[in-house]
Amino acid sequence: MSDLTSVPGTQPLLQPVQLGALKLPNRVVMAPMTRSRADNEELAPTGLHATYYTQRAGAGLIISEGTWVSTDAIGFINVPGIYTDAQTTGWTKVTEAVHSAGGRIVSQLGHAGAASHPDHHGGRLPAGPSAINPHEMSFTPDGPKDSLTPRALSAAEIATTIGTYRQAATNALRAGFDGLEIHAQVSHLVAQFLNPRLNQRTDAYGGSSEKRAQFLLDVVDAVSSVWGSDRIGIKLSPYWNSGTAFTADAEALAEYDQLLRRLDDSNLAYLHLLGPEPDTETDTLTAFTRYRAHYRGAVIANLGFTQASGNELLERQLADAVSFGAPFIANPDLVDRFTHGHPLAADNRDTRFAGGAEGYTDYATMIGSYEECFVRLGCGTHFCGVAGVPQPSAGAPPAQYQRQGWSDSGSMKGSRAACVIPSAS
Ligand SMILES: Cc1cc2nc3c(=O)[nH]c(=O)nc-3n(C[C@H](O)[C@H](O)[C@H](O)COP(=O)(O)O)c2cc1C
Repeated sequence: MSDLTSVPGTQPLLQPVQLGALKLPNRVVMAPMTRSRADNEELAPTGLHATYYTQRAGAGLIISEGTWVSTDAIGFINVPGIYTDAQTTGWTKVTEAVHSAGGRIVSQLGHAGAASHPDHHGGRLPAGPSAINPHEMSFTPDGPKDSLTPRALSAAEIATTIGTYRQAATNALRAGFDGLEIHAQVSHLVAQFLNPRLNQRTDAYGGSSEKRAQFLLDVVDAVSSVWGSDRIGIKLSPYWNSGTAFTADAEALAEYDQLLRRLDDSNLAYLHLLGPEPDTETDTLTAFTRYRAHYRGAVIANLGFTQASGNELLERQLADAVSFGAPFIANPDLVDRFTHGHPLAADNRDTRFAGGAEGYTDYATMIGSYEECFVRLGCGTHFCGVAGVPQPSAGAPPAQYQRQGWSDSGSMKGSRAACVIPSAS
């Protein structure tokens, strides 16, 4: 478990925490989110990415969107990589901007493996652990397409792939990130290796659960040789169900228990663990109790958390930090909103994976408390609230301000600009 310096009277999410070598001023982590804004030939992050991440620098830790370690890793359009100089330069601008705003950011390294399509690879089949179709969907330039039966990676290609993670780790270090997270969740390459239905290899990387975990362990070793393991996290999704390949049955969960025990010796910064989907057989507290029984290191909990359920999990010491994905899209100042009890805005799902600045860098930020907002913007003329949230709501302003224009505004929409903090870049 992590070190903790408690601040009396502060909600657990707002307390500082140390995850390996990473010092976080609060436990509200921004989960990695592909936003498909690298709409350029180089698949390089741009100034728009720098603005987006900087707006969210109040997070205890930002985990970047999944970032390709090579061209072979691609499985989704307009997602940036970290395998070229241009990409590394783009990421350098992102990390500098986030650090200037007082934030911390780690790079999530990803590889889609067989969850891809020949359209991403000049007509060549993507590769996975074995020639078995994962029946996943890939977003191609022509829209979503079903995955096909992939090529099986040769032993030499596995060694090359591990080398691309090492090179990506070197690039991430050059780009000024604070650490790395290995994307080992849902249906991507590492999870394909872990999965007995998709990995039917008979070499050092398949045949038993220990051998199916070898690819992940080799990747961890490769990136640790660049960074030191205490700046490396791994995102895993033991309860993931998808298609016919990914089923969180008793056998799969027992294998994850074993994997967690093996990773316990790796001196990682953290494990980033998804709980079960809401309304499924297992509840979140049971899942995180189970994780704690097998892993003594720091845990970032994810999936469907609210401020209340995040605080509860931390109070019970079942995790060290909680990550929020979707809530960070429309609430760049999520930590401030938790601090002041402001309501959360909902994001526009149509712009999650497309849209340039729209639905990316144009979400409103509230300025501190309602009192601060009114003082800074002037009472009566501005509406200090959240775009799109009808009022009054949980975070209604003090009574003296309601006389000054609050209650006669039906919606926050018109005042959106009034509460936006200009971007730092
Ligand atoms: C738009 C979007 C893109 C995502 N992209 C990634 C990704 O690149 N890598 C990853 O590990 N998870 C990705 N996720 C999953 C999130 O990290 C997180 O696990 C999920 O949203 C559940 O957390 P939440 O309930 O707080 O949103 C994505 C989620 C969303 C909503």
